[in-house]
Amino acid sequence: MDDGDDLPAPVPALFPAREDRARLDDLLTSALALADERVARGSVMPTIDMVAFREELLRFDFATPQPMDELLMWTIARMEQGMVHMTNPRYFGLFNPGPSFPSQCADRITSVFNPQLASSGSSPLPVELEAHVIRAVARRAGLPPEATGHFATGGSEANYTSLLCALTRAERGFATDGVRAFSGPVSLYASRECHIAWLKVAHQAGVGRSALRLVDTDGKGRMDPRSLARAVAADRAQGAVPVLIVATAGTTGAGMIDPLVECAQIAHDHGVWFHVDAAWGGAALASDRLRDALDGIEHADSVTIDAHKWFATTMGCGMFITRHGHVLSEAFHSSTSFMPSSVAGIDPYINSVQWSRRFLGLRLFLSLAAAGWDGYGAHVERSVEIIEVVRKRLVARGWTAVNESRLAVLCVVPPPGLGDIKAIVRRVLASGRAWVAPATFEGRDVLRICATHGQSTIEDVGELVAALHASD
Ligand SMILES: Cc1ncc(COP(=O)(O)O)c(C=O)c1O
Repeated sequence: MDDGDDLPAPVPALFPAREDRARLDDLLTSALALADERVARGSVMPTIDMVAFREELLRFDFATPQPMDELLMWTIARMEQGMVHMTNPRYFGLFNPGPSFPSQCADRITSVFNPQLASSGSSPLPVELEAHVIRAVARRAGLPPEATGHFATGGSEANYTSLLCALTRAERGFATDGVRAFSGPVSLYASRECHIAWLKVAHQAGVGRSALRLVDTDGKGRMDPRSLARAVAADRAQGAVPVLIVATAGTTGAGMIDPLVECAQIAHDHGVWFHVDAAWGGAALASDRLRDALDGIEHADSVTIDAHKWFATTMGCGMFITRHGHVLSEAFHSSTSFMPSSVAGIDPYINSVQWSRRFLGLRLFLSLAAAGWDGYGAHVERSVEIIEVVRKRLVARGWTAVNESRLAVLCVVPPPGLGDIKAIVRRVLASGRAWVAPATFEGRDVLRICATHGQSTIEDVGELVAALHASD
């Protein structure tokens, strides 16, 4: 019954009326499409004067509201100037992709519905849909049907989850007493070429950075299994407690794959959790031609794969997959009366690091549903072909390729007379024609080139090679 009470109107700048919202949505859609085209043709590098921008920011004292259409146009214009552009097909950089269109659509849908994925009680369909995608990827990796997992902010969170699982399984008292429950100092193992966020992971988990043993490589960027076995045995003999062996499937610097079968065997022999960090390289699962490069991944206790890397979804969209769902539940259990549901093994907030969470899995669901595994296989193989063309062209110009990756990363050393690597990279970036990175591979300075954009053309490759040779 209306008792005459009245409420203030909603704040229109935050919650515009339908027709205003529709007009702004259309404006945004067309302005973004034009910006996307300009970015693809323009400089890969930021072009903004940051001193002037900081001055400009001072105008935003948030005292006087400003019109939304102007704000949108201003934001797009500044974004065009103010970042390294992963959506430019001449970005041959770190593992950041040009995002797939279905994943961009997923973000739009998610931002309108804004589901809370902490619990299946509040978001039954999104939670089920994410679990379906995780199961599909797990099956593709050859993990058993009971394998489970969740979407994460990225590879770092997924890798952190693997260490928490390893600690939880290794020592019953860890949940209550932390590392004090162990009979000696805990240790974990990854190769010297691993992603160095493992140091942060060790720090965060409370085992300390010195717990991470950086195992020698074989001269070709892959973990040396004999060194690994020796390191584990030596730690044991000295009273340490090895809990986790990490094999990297697609090293960040050079796209190398550690010997997964041998690493799995050593982990098995020592009763240690075996994790495969396939943050980038995991997408090779989609390719029938490259799948065998990941042989041994099926032995993993857990796997990290980032959809926001080679699966080309928007950032950040990690996946943690494990064959031991009960360990996840043990590591993250919690109970409270205010949550709409608390089902072990199902509700994300009691099976993962996060509580409130975004609907990340829709990005990979829509991309996979639209392209199929074959579409993703073609995408991955195309990147490998791009890198093969780059390699051939550079070798023909006197460069030396130093890594033997089957994936889409090339590490090269320039011919004498072209200058040192950092100077070449500086020159390429200053030109804005392409983006590449300096890196080290097996202790040697190299120039690292990675195919990350699904639409790079042969002309883009030509532009990259020309940019590497200043005089072209
Ligand atoms: C092999 C590997 N593991 C982990 C990570 C960290 O992933 P994220 O940046 O998504 O946290 C990266 C990032 O490049 C990586 O290459």
